[in-house]
Amino acid sequence: MEFSCFYMSNIIYATFLLFFDAFAFAEDSIGPFQSIRDGTTLVSKEGTFEFGFFSPGNSKNRYAGIWYKNIPVQNVVWVANRCNPINDSSGLLTTNSTGNLVLLHQNKSVVWYTSLSKQVKKPIVRLLDSGNLVLKDEEDGNSEAYLWQSFDYPSDKFLAGMKLGWDLKKGLSRRVSAWRNWDDPCPGDFSWGVEFDALNQSIPEFYVRNGGKKFLRAGPWNGVRLSGVSELKPNQFVNYQFVDNEDEVYYTFNLKSNSVIAIFVLNQTTSTRQRLTWIAEEKSWNLQFSDPKDHCDNYGLCGGNGNCVIGDNPVCHCLKGFKPKSEEKWNLTNWSGGCVRNTPLDCKDKKSDGFMKFVGLKLPDTTYARLNKSMNLKECRAKCLSNCSCMAYASSNVRDGSGCLMWFGDLMDIRQVSTEEQALYVRMPASELGKSGHMVRAVIVVACIGSISVVLLLGYFVYRRNSKATSEETERSLVTRTNERHEEDLELPLFDLPTIVTATDRFSFKNKLGEGGFGPVYRGMLEGGQEIAVKRLSLSSGQGIDEFKTEVKLIVNLQHRNLVKLLGCCIQGEEKLLVYEYMHNKSLDSFIFDKNQAKLLDWPKRFQIICGVARGLLYLHQDSRLRIIHRDLKASNVLLDNEMNPKISDFGLARTFGGDGDDSEGKTRRVIGTYGYMAPEYVYNGQFSIKSDVFSFGILVLEIVSGKRSTSFFLQKEGLTLTAHAWTLMQEGRAIELLDSHLRDSHHDLQEVLRCIHVGLLCVQQRTSDRPSMSSVVVMLSSDSHVLPYPNRPGYFMETESPQLFPESSRVSTITISGPVAR
Ligand SMILES: *[C@@H]1O[C@H](CO)[C@@H](O)[C@H](O)[C@H]1NC(C)=O
Ligand SMILES: *[C@@H]1O[C@H](CO)[C@@H](O)[C@H](O)[C@H]1NC(C)=O
Ligand SMILES: *[C@@H]1O[C@H](CO)[C@@H](O)[C@H](O)[C@H]1NC(C)=O
Ligand SMILES: *[C@@H]1O[C@H](CO)[C@@H](O)[C@H](O)[C@H]1NC(C)=O
Ligand SMILES: *[C@@H]1O[C@H](CO)[C@@H](O)[C@H](O)[C@H]1NC(C)=O
Ligand SMILES: *[C@@H]1O[C@H](CO)[C@@H](O)[C@H](O)[C@H]1NC(C)=O
Ligand SMILES: *[C@@H]1O[C@H](CO)[C@@H](O)[C@H](O)[C@H]1NC(C)=O
Ligand SMILES: *[C@@H]1O[C@H](CO)[C@@H](O)[C@H](O)[C@H]1NC(C)=O
Ligand SMILES: *[C@@H]1O[C@H](CO)[C@@H](O)[C@H](O)[C@H]1NC(C)=O
Repeated sequence: MEFSCFYMSNIIYATFLLFFDAFAFAEDSIGPFQSIRDGTTLVSKEGTFEFGFFSPGNSKNRYAGIWYKNIPVQNVVWVANRCNPINDSSGLLTTNSTGNLVLLHQNKSVVWYTSLSKQVKKPIVRLLDSGNLVLKDEEDGNSEAYLWQSFDYPSDKFLAGMKLGWDLKKGLSRRVSAWRNWDDPCPGDFSWGVEFDALNQSIPEFYVRNGGKKFLRAGPWNGVRLSGVSELKPNQFVNYQFVDNEDEVYYTFNLKSNSVIAIFVLNQTTSTRQRLTWIAEEKSWNLQFSDPKDHCDNYGLCGGNGNCVIGDNPVCHCLKGFKPKSEEKWNLTNWSGGCVRNTPLDCKDKKSDGFMKFVGLKLPDTTYARLNKSMNLKECRAKCLSNCSCMAYASSNVRDGSGCLMWFGDLMDIRQVSTEEQALYVRMPASELGKSGHMVRAVIVVACIGSISVVLLLGYFVYRRNSKATSEETERSLVTRTNERHEEDLELPLFDLPTIVTATDRFSFKNKLGEGGFGPVYRGMLEGGQEIAVKRLSLSSGQGIDEFKTEVKLIVNLQHRNLVKLLGCCIQGEEKLLVYEYMHNKSLDSFIFDKNQAKLLDWPKRFQIICGVARGLLYLHQDSRLRIIHRDLKASNVLLDNEMNPKISDFGLARTFGGDGDDSEGKTRRVIGTYGYMAPEYVYNGQFSIKSDVFSFGILVLEIVSGKRSTSFFLQKEGLTLTAHAWTLMQEGRAIELLDSHLRDSHHDLQEVLRCIHVGLLCVQQRTSDRPSMSSVVVMLSSDSHVLPYPNRPGYFMETESPQLFPESSRVSTITISGPVAR
């Protein structure tokens, strides 16, 4: 992507800053009988990490721990005395005569210690640049043989190079556990680790537990990644690895570049597991993802043999061939009872049972599943069939389809995951199989722009950079425009008035396509058969001939497949006409807001339209020779060609309307646009910028997703506007409910829908500086793994805050800013 070089250099620069003060002299290790007391620290060689004493949050207690030296916030990665704080500054870490690390309080009481199995002659303690505090014997040449390491005893953070899981030889289980709260690093209820049952040949799985209860489950490792967790795919800057052999079973990751810092955190306060990336430039952690991300991530929400489908109402379904155990409870949205078979298995005659294939599911909990890596799928099926209590099977390795996983008992914690390709075969009596050879199949992801290789982080940089650059960018764009306004001859085909009159059959009523903001639009056909749309500017529009020409010139220079093409114009006497290419499918509003037409626009088409409009707008804002603020983006200004490709129309026209000299300051006394789409700062203060277009775009996205007009929508009881409704749903984790009811029945990529809603909400944020630029929007729409910032409160939250609700077609052309808006 084109931003790469520029932003890469930024990353490198940021890294340089990060390590800049690493040259301070500091020790990275202590030898025998040396110590670190409160007030002194160890600093790793490159200066990345520091070990010392600290007080967390508002606490006065002292803890010994490790933190990122150059990160000022949420930087503690490991704590020694998690539950044994020291109440003064007398803490001291040293090695005692047996070579153990001991943390002493007032020189005598041992607050924390290591338990080595053997005597160490010459203990040396070193803080590594990975964040690992290691203890080894200097007499022992083998540099990697640590007698003890902090990485074996994680706190709430999982760092690159750590192993989450088991050292089977030592019987060591490494689990991450959340802090109780911000002031207390003692382990809280949340912990995260790898669980399996070696004796029963179960397959290792990752669980987050809340107290004793399973809370989150990633799905078993399928040879490539964790089943059902798209975020844990390898990505541009993190490599994940899973190791499963006789000695060790663990999960680890490393960073592909030194300039990126990425960590996992388990946070009790928010009850989430998060992946954060440090952005040095912004001095903040960027949330890359956080789970549970929706209802369906709640462990076992739908009970045994239930399937959780996010976006459906209710979210829980029974697997095919099953029915709710208690329909009454199920109807009351208590799904914990799960589902039972419609027809019992016929175990007497084994031949009569078979299997139904399901694709697109997160594999069920494997606690009671058996694994045999040496069987193939055919053997697996035979084996499962031969044992009446075997409920389902699947191959354990998607890479080559090898291995056999067999489930016994109810199938727990299944959810629909559109990206999951692995098949699950569920045992069914012959009678169920006869009904239909149904297969649950998920929709494949369609990316917005060609390259899916957009780096998460890079996307983020683009986003942040742009949000900063906003005001500057806007100013530049306005200056550019003003300078371009010098006299030049029009290079646009001029049409004769008689030609147009003939083409439109004398502007006949039957050829009238509609009423645009500035006058009627007619369909016409030129002599060669080319179809055109003619916009006739009404005489009262007050637009001067020169400005009209300049504006036409500006438009004719714009070439983009998502902008409607201006073919020419006609200026004769009082008549001012613009001739455009004709769009067979008319405008977007005629589809999305119409009960019958709405069905014709399925989700993939709608997504294509959203992406197309985004690209068109990006072109206007950034890529075209002239920078243009559209100021009147709305559904009726998005035209659709034969293939439903969106074309923005009416562009730029609004800008010169009325010829207001104040434009260069990004402020106008004439507020022109359409209520429901105009950004609050524009409506109330006449301030416009590319960010007011972004606002309109956000409204458009929410309309396309919901099929509801922003101008006529508000929830009766709460008085919420469309933006507020969408935002509230998102906060409650029910954003998918915004989706147009016409689209509910068909299968589509729900993550894509959610992403669009999320992006839409980012665009309609109240504060202009919070809104992303269109280049970020295009990146965000295209990347299915990019984690988006959480949107702040949108503009027009309550009905009472928004201007009086006008029907969408009534464009308001002039408002003086001195008084309150909207009469
Ligand atoms: C700190 O704790 C010790 C016991 O560990 C106790 O004797 C001492 O009084 C405490 N000091 C303060 C200031 O609370
Ligand atoms: C060193 O510390 C360990 C752990 O506290 C303890 O078991 C051991 O007895 C200590 N050795 C001596 C000589 O104090
Ligand atoms: C700890 O011991 C050192 C030297 O052994 C001594 O200087 C210091 O005063 C002692 N501190 C306390 C709190 O007893
Ligand atoms: C947990 O997350 C909250 C909200 O992001 C944050 O304020 C808090 O500091 C986090 N807690 C810890 C222990 O990091
Ligand atoms: C093995 O699994 C069975 C149930 O399938 C369970 O009853 C048994 O306790 C498990 N064995 C071990 C050692 O956990
Ligand atoms: C549950 O809801 C379904 C559909 O609404 C209805 O047909 C059924 O009678 C209800 N069952 C019970 C037990 O309420
Ligand atoms: C749901 O039903 C189960 C019994 O099947 C019961 O234990 C549980 O309390 C119910 N949950 C709620 C929220 O009512
Ligand atoms: C795994 O399957 C192979 C081939 O069917 C069989 O020989 C072997 O005994 C099985 N292993 C276990 C532990 O069941
Ligand atoms: C079926 O599998 C279960 C669980 O592995 C086992 O306990 C049982 O003995 C098996 N039954 C037969 C008939 O093989």
